Amino acid sequence: MQCLADELKERGTLGDEGLRTLLESEDPLLEQRLLANAREVTDRTFGRNVWLRALIEWTNVCRNDCLYCGIRRSNAAVARYTLSRTEILSCCAQAWQAGVHTFVLQGGEHPAGVEALMDTVAEIRAAWPDAAITLSLGELAPETYALLRRSGADRYLLRHETADAAHYARLHPKPQTLENRLACLRVLRETGFQTGTGMMVGSPYQTTDHLIADLRFIERFRPEMIGIGPFIPQRDTPFRDFPAGSARLTVRLIALLRLMHPDALIPSTTALSVLSPDGRMSGIRAGANVVMPDFTPSAQRAEYRLYEGKNAAWTETVANLQTLREELAREGYAIASGRGDSPRTIQPVTQ
Ligand code: 5AD
Repeated sequence: MQCLADELKERGTLGDEGLRTLLESEDPLLEQRLLANAREVTDRTFGRNVWLRALIEWTNVCRNDCLYCGIRRSNAAVARYTLSRTEILSCCAQAWQAGVHTFVLQGGEHPAGVEALMDTVAEIRAAWPDAAITLSLGELAPETYALLRRSGADRYLLRHETADAAHYARLHPKPQTLENRLACLRVLRETGFQTGTGMMVGSPYQTTDHLIADLRFIERFRPEMIGIGPFIPQRDTPFRDFPAGSARLTVRLIALLRLMHPDALIPSTTALSVLSPDGRMSGIRAGANVVMPDFTPSAQRAEYRLYEGKNAAWTETVANLQTLREELAREGYAIASGRGDSPRTIQPVTQ
């Protein structure tokens, strides 16, 4: 009998029971095979290249109250900030100089601030015509997405968090719904963004069935980018006492997603590197091909507390790019230059 990890590599998909076995199996050989197959497929499509994305945490102001998130509206322990146009441009300049050719502007859901940001996006586009501009600003009106796209942004990240509506409702108070989240993802795609989505792994109440539903949703949606990371409790949130998600399961999911989406850009996320010193490399060994070093100025970065330990992930910061380069080189990976678009949808930069 052919092993499930090989069948997934050949077919790019499996039935639910096959996926369940790969998620839950205690067989170390099957797990090894899964991870090795995923890396092989990554090498075939992308080579042993890792693309860097400069994360710029634009604001921690947020209108939402997600039960897991440290910058939720009702957390009074966070000092709120919004980076100015000058600060953002200076982060981009630093990133460009460090050879990072994608800028990711991420923030809480702060529609009132987005208008000013739009002008900044246009300035970034004019100043660095060859850079990719990625936004991660939550759920906004379709018109706002269209304006952002016209200002010159290329990509948009919006995790679906969980593809099960009832589970979604346990993680997000009203009026947030899975339906709205998915509607936004469809609009983003129609607006011409390269679109990224993904889920938290091990969030409270999550079951294997939920993860299978996540894999099926991603399979249908076929995003250009897929970002997943373990849930990590944050002390000022209602979920403070829940256990963190498992790094091992996160890495397995990266491998599964790679085999189901050979040409997707998949980051080895900060949350994974927070759980263990080897976290980031374990993601890359399992088929991740993106790392997102944090270029936010340190004072503000300290207040962008999505989860506990985020700021202790010191190798993710700009000062440690050289360390990252060496760490990757030791295992035969190189930092790629260029925008690192999905080979599926290379879109021209909007003027
Ligand atoms: N643990 C892990 N990831 C989190 N995020 C927010 N809060 C947490 C947490 N406690 C993730 C969400 C969101 C992204 C910006 O950060 O998935 O989409």
